[in-house]
Amino acid sequence: MIFLPTSSESIKQAAEILRNGGLVAFPTETVYGLGADAFNSQALAKVFEAKNRPHFNPLIIHIASIDTLEKVADLSLLSEERRQKLFLITDKLWPGPLSLILPKNEKIPGIATAGLPTAAIRFCDHDAAQKLISLSTGAVAAPSANPFGSLSPTRAEHVRDKLGEKVDMILDGGPARIGIESTVLDITNETIKILRPGGTPKEAIEKLIGHITDSSTTTENTVTKIISPGQLKSHYAPKTPLGVLSQKEIINQPYDVDNAFLFFDSATRDAWIKLQKPDKTAVVRVLSETGMALEAASRLFETLHDLDNCKVSKIFTQLAPQEGLGEAINDRLKRGSS
Ligand code: TXA
Ligand code: MG
Repeated sequence: MIFLPTSSESIKQAAEILRNGGLVAFPTETVYGLGADAFNSQALAKVFEAKNRPHFNPLIIHIASIDTLEKVADLSLLSEERRQKLFLITDKLWPGPLSLILPKNEKIPGIATAGLPTAAIRFCDHDAAQKLISLSTGAVAAPSANPFGSLSPTRAEHVRDKLGEKVDMILDGGPARIGIESTVLDITNETIKILRPGGTPKEAIEKLIGHITDSSTTTENTVTKIISPGQLKSHYAPKTPLGVLSQKEIINQPYDVDNAFLFFDSATRDAWIKLQKPDKTAVVRVLSETGMALEAASRLFETLHDLDNCKVSKIFTQLAPQEGLGEAINDRLKRGSS
């Protein structure tokens, strides 16, 4: 791990790491973020792994210019009235401690938003962060740079102590100016709502767009709500019924033209092929040829979407080994099947 103060040189180096799929912790005005290229699903999977989150939880996508907004969001899905409100807000409150929930651009991989059709997007008010983001692909997904369940880091040393070697580089920009996470505002729903109170006060938003609802009282509220089964299921579960099987069970699952088969690794697929002798038209996918949970996690949401379009009546899928990111994969598969 490289630990350097923010300078033109270190920021260039950090941007290079991001472009190559690595992880960089960087300062923002709120808290330190654990950044990965928002367009690279394997890099995004590393974020979940480094934080040791037991479940996937959608990340905030950081941009460094308003022109980049359309690269990460699909504003055509917003009504004219909503677009006007959006620009009233961004004109006055961006850059700043405010994340906006918007329909996501299809180029953003599903793992960034945990399968949701929306993404949290933020233009942060921090010079070094903005330089870093501009020199990368222009969009950096970053949750707070702390392990799951521990406090958000407001100093580079916090990140070093808690995440250390799990990060390729930590940029030290001194203590965070605000020290509390951004406000998360959902403007995609019928009623505009604060999902997480934070660095931008409700009043500052109301001054621009009138009364808004505060749906959350604590920071963790949003998180619990989003990963609660009811909340995510409708967004996440494939339309096709999903049958979740152990490795042994899927190997013994008879082939049927009307079913799709999703394997965790190619060894299990090969064992199944040997036993069930499917024909050439069989719909078969593998999450990771070599059985790497990181790669499997990065492909999970996309593969389920893809299978959903294959017009089969059921998808049989194999659970991942219940360790590391395998836990998060299995959590999502089980939710999708219930
Ligand atoms: O200040 C901040 O927001 C910091 C810095 C690094 O930018 N980031 C941060 O990220 O706090 P994180 O991952 O710790 O919190 C992201 C919050 C979570 O509550 C998550 O559930 C919510 O944003 N969120 C992300 N995407 C969402 C979506 N599509 N819909 C609703 N909530 C979303
Ligand atoms: Mg956090």
